[in-house]
Amino acid sequence: MQPTSPLSQQSQSRRDEVHGRQVAAMFGRIARWYDFLNHALSLGMDIYWRWRLARAARPGRRGVVLDLAAGTMDVSLALTRQYPDCRVLAVDYTLPMLSRGLRKITPELSTRILPVQGDGRRLPLPDESVDAATIAFGIRNIRPRMAAHREVLRCLRPGGRFCILEFGTGSRKVWGGLYNFYLNSVLPAFGHLISGDRTAYRYLADTIREFPDERRLARELLDAGFARVFHVAMLSGIVYLHVAEKAGGDDVTTETPADASAHGSAPVSPTGDDGPSLLRCFTREDPGKDPHGEEDGD
Ligand SMILES: C[S@@+](CC[C@H](N)C(=O)[O-])C[C@H]1O[C@@H](n2cnc3c(N)ncnc32)[C@H](O)[C@@H]1O
Repeated sequence: MQPTSPLSQQSQSRRDEVHGRQVAAMFGRIARWYDFLNHALSLGMDIYWRWRLARAARPGRRGVVLDLAAGTMDVSLALTRQYPDCRVLAVDYTLPMLSRGLRKITPELSTRILPVQGDGRRLPLPDESVDAATIAFGIRNIRPRMAAHREVLRCLRPGGRFCILEFGTGSRKVWGGLYNFYLNSVLPAFGHLISGDRTAYRYLADTIREFPDERRLARELLDAGFARVFHVAMLSGIVYLHVAEKAGGDDVTTETPADASAHGSAPVSPTGDDGPSLLRCFTREDPGKDPHGEEDGD
């Protein structure tokens, strides 16, 4: 429910500020365990997911990419591997996460990856200053999400992409409920055991469960002003790659996701559970059916 009166808006934004500080404190506490737990809990699949995210960004030669909620900078690193001439602004709210990531930045990379402590809801960047933007497992933590969507849109050049890697909503059953059991029981217990933090991995499960499904997220992004949104489901919909494009570039007007997959530039794999048939494109003219309505068939 959206707050309506100015008073309730004020108290909502106070709650959002408190939430932001709590989230930053939580990531500060688990920063040293973060990379290990990421790889262990996903059995290493997170490396492939971030690679897919980087591939979707397409910043162009010598492009500048905003890696929002960069954390320990694995996406920033994946971007520099994928695009040898690009530069990355790695923006994150939590200094201990960035400091941890700095250990992975070699002297050669230090001229290409610039870590910046900043808030995704108030980006310290001029309008249309970046060619692409990425966010991996970060959008779930930002409240209100709409503020981040709008800020990224403002900073993107026309035609630029905002690529979001995120868990699918955990409220949908996957693998006959096995994944949901893993999410709600195994993951918080294992996270607690390793990091010693009882709340952090419970928070992870809760926010995944509450996260909107792909249709709702597409609507949000279109409402924020993006021209076109599409998504790719990976691992039976446990993880999604969402791509939102800003109007104004050639891509938006001339290329459909299917065209893009044909010449290998869209985030589509020709095989596996995340093939082209899983793509569903939404535009402002065709925002999809009601999110509570019929399923995509993905
Ligand atoms: C789950 S981590 C993801 C880190 C990294 N992107 C990755 O792929 O591993 C979420 C990150 O979001 C950051 N974050 C949360 N709220 C933020 C905000 N308002 N602005 C910028 N970063 C934020 C946290 O500090 C944390 O590092």
